[in-house]
Amino acid sequence: MTTISKELSASLQARYGHSPDVLDALNPTIETMLQHRSVRAYTSQPVPANTAELLVAAAQSASTSSNMQTWSVIAVTDPGRKDRLAKIANNQEFVRTCPLFLVWVTDLARLKALGNDRQKPHESLNYLEMLLVGAIDSALASQNAAVAAESMNLGMVYIGAIRNDPIAVAKELNLPPMSFATFGMCIGYAEPSLTTAVKPRLPQSAILHKDTYDSQAYKAGVESYNQTMDTFYAKQKMTPLGPWDLHTLNRVRGPEAMGGRHTLMETLRSMGFEIR
Ligand SMILES: Cc1cc2nc3c(=O)[nH]c(=O)nc-3n(C[C@H](O)[C@H](O)[C@H](O)COP(=O)(O)O)c2cc1C
Repeated sequence: MTTISKELSASLQARYGHSPDVLDALNPTIETMLQHRSVRAYTSQPVPANTAELLVAAAQSASTSSNMQTWSVIAVTDPGRKDRLAKIANNQEFVRTCPLFLVWVTDLARLKALGNDRQKPHESLNYLEMLLVGAIDSALASQNAAVAAESMNLGMVYIGAIRNDPIAVAKELNLPPMSFATFGMCIGYAEPSLTTAVKPRLPQSAILHKDTYDSQAYKAGVESYNQTMDTFYAKQKMTPLGPWDLHTLNRVRGPEAMGGRHTLMETLRSMGFEIR
């Protein structure tokens, strides 16, 4: 076992409930990542002017498939619009109260328009592969923005619930066909009285495979993670949702547990994505 710094060990302890053997090379970037926790309560303090622009510069610095840059982002600050988006997103209050709501868009519309402008074929945009490329690029970009925001002492939380009604979101944001609001992101200053702890993750033994995938690796990891999460919820004085494995399996039990998103394929087709 290697000896690691007290700071790194404490961060790992929070992230895993134990401190795995890792390279002792903590730096501010990794520290920001290890300290991540979703923020679901914001103060009324606005974010500094041009925050969205700085976050987008960080986002655009992420790798992007073939430099195609198949994503866009809408910075929403208008209270009425945030309110309507909150309603679509299960009425999650923090969508309303965060000063800046970023909507990350899988955007094939820009290349389609460019293809039409230049009278060039752009048939590949109709394939599942390109939808995936846009969603992957959106996620990589948004996560860069998330880390940037957290490094500035801003809090954030992703909002997948805007996929409950992609057509209503598209109307609200004036999205063209072949673009799709993949997820939102609340940004703002965390309400200190409601600050949450770092949430533990599965042990690395269940996640990190060496050379080839080990199909049995999850078993011991999940057992110990159930316990880690029990301890975490008890410490936070939060009501556990049940053991992580059963709670998570309940989330994937079937279409009735998908908040209407089981029809996403048809919805996306109606929004101009052929998905061949
Ligand atoms: C794509 C995506 C969508 C999410 N959507 C929501 C959401 O709609 N509402 C919410 O409260 N949290 C949402 N989350 C946050 C997760 O619940 C959270 O990241 C997870 O529970 C781990 O907690 P942590 O971020 O505090 O470590 C989302 C996260 C991701 C990555």
